[in-house]
Amino acid sequence: MSVRIAVFGLGYLGATHALCMAELGHHVVGVDVDMKKIDMLRSGELPFYEPGLGELLQRNLAAGRLRFTTSYSEAAQFAQVHFIAVGTPQRSDSLAADLSHVDAVIESLAPLLTKPAVLFGKSTVPVGTAKRLAARVRELAPAGETVELAWNPEFLREGFAVHDTLKPDRLVLGVDSAHPSRAETVAREVFAPLLDDGVPFLVTDFATSELVKVAANAFLATKISFINAMAEVCDHTAGDVSMLAEALGYDPRIGREFLRAGVGFGGGCLPKDIRAFSARADELGAKGASAILMAVDDINTRSRSHAIDVTREVCGSLPGARVAVLGAAFKPDSDDVRDSPALDIANQLQRHGADVVVYDPMAMGNARLQFPGLSYASTLGDACEGADAVLVLTEWAEFRKLHPRDLDTVVRCKVLVDGRNCLDPAPWQKAGWTYRGIGRPELTVTEIGVPARVSDREFAVGA
Ligand code: UDX
Repeated sequence: MSVRIAVFGLGYLGATHALCMAELGHHVVGVDVDMKKIDMLRSGELPFYEPGLGELLQRNLAAGRLRFTTSYSEAAQFAQVHFIAVGTPQRSDSLAADLSHVDAVIESLAPLLTKPAVLFGKSTVPVGTAKRLAARVRELAPAGETVELAWNPEFLREGFAVHDTLKPDRLVLGVDSAHPSRAETVAREVFAPLLDDGVPFLVTDFATSELVKVAANAFLATKISFINAMAEVCDHTAGDVSMLAEALGYDPRIGREFLRAGVGFGGGCLPKDIRAFSARADELGAKGASAILMAVDDINTRSRSHAIDVTREVCGSLPGARVAVLGAAFKPDSDDVRDSPALDIANQLQRHGADVVVYDPMAMGNARLQFPGLSYASTLGDACEGADAVLVLTEWAEFRKLHPRDLDTVVRCKVLVDGRNCLDPAPWQKAGWTYRGIGRPELTVTEIGVPARVSDREFAVGA
């Protein structure tokens, strides 16, 4: 059954959700305050890179199931179901989440709701927000109690957004236990094809649904920081963190995903979500949760500083050193540079006096906007020209395939810092390069020629 849906906020989350809802056969209007974004989407162009999403946009525009507007009244009149997918960035004055965009949607939309409707919040919010917003919606909506709010957190990964939306691991719905709710029935209609495919559907209270999202991100961030803490121990003991992670991963209770050591996590979600969760836990007096999250964040910051220390060490000193930074996106197959470890490290190296040139296969436009003071090269070769050290900070396939002969005659010094442990050290060392990984031993000459310690399989799964 086709449902009339409005999606508010057309960033990564909202645009993907709107397009996927149309793909399921629903009639969808996407709403955003940014006219430029609306114009792009109307003309069939995505405002960001996401594999597979462009085809969905064109197909559903052509099918007449999808349109875009800046008009809240148009959306309010049209839709029975409203998804709120606006951003909740970190506040500029604290670690907490900035809820002004979510609040603005409620304040503008609710007074326009004259017929029964269900609002599903998808944005990542501090626990307690849904309860407050549900009361506000009842207060503002002319249709009163027939307009209700439920929470439906989103777990999509960039680069896998379409898959994660149409074939999610689970659907979670938080409903208001204090009020009679149609939200579950409506959600079952909206997500019917997914439920028919057997996707687990968990219906819970508001607080649990809000916590599922931040706890999931906190756990993922903890895994990454845990393995980066182990990398630090390996660096002090000549252990090999890649092998350690592989051996740990065979234990199904631990699992092998999210145990890739390196320069740590970035992006629009994990860093700000763990900080907001930590701030909220602190407010609530849940000191254990805030302490663990602060430690995870600290280790992540240390991972970035460690890469800078290694670069200083291999270059002798940073002022005047010519450093090629390969990677700007926070992860491969994305043009997203929000809180990217690669760009943060590039920027810090430049502040320490290094002559830094950045190259990324896809994120150069966004990188230039965020760090206009950095130098950028249009090819990998240009970035490495005359380099005293080459740093691989995002594990793009183009970099993983690099061979020493590609760079032997390009660089000034044969020095490679593999900030993502994504290259096999042996051929580099054999070709006379200094190879430095993160938590990986420096191989001795007799070990050169041993098989790769990082299997490609490690990079083929997950994001
Ligand atoms: C994340 C969550 O995975 C997703 O469920 C949530 O909805 C949004 O936040 P995303 O931001 O797309 O998704 O990125 P993710 O694939 O989780 O990677 C986050 C960061 O961790 C990247 O910078 C990545 O390079 C880093 N990472 C990931 C590691 O450093 N090591 C790993 O083993 C895995």
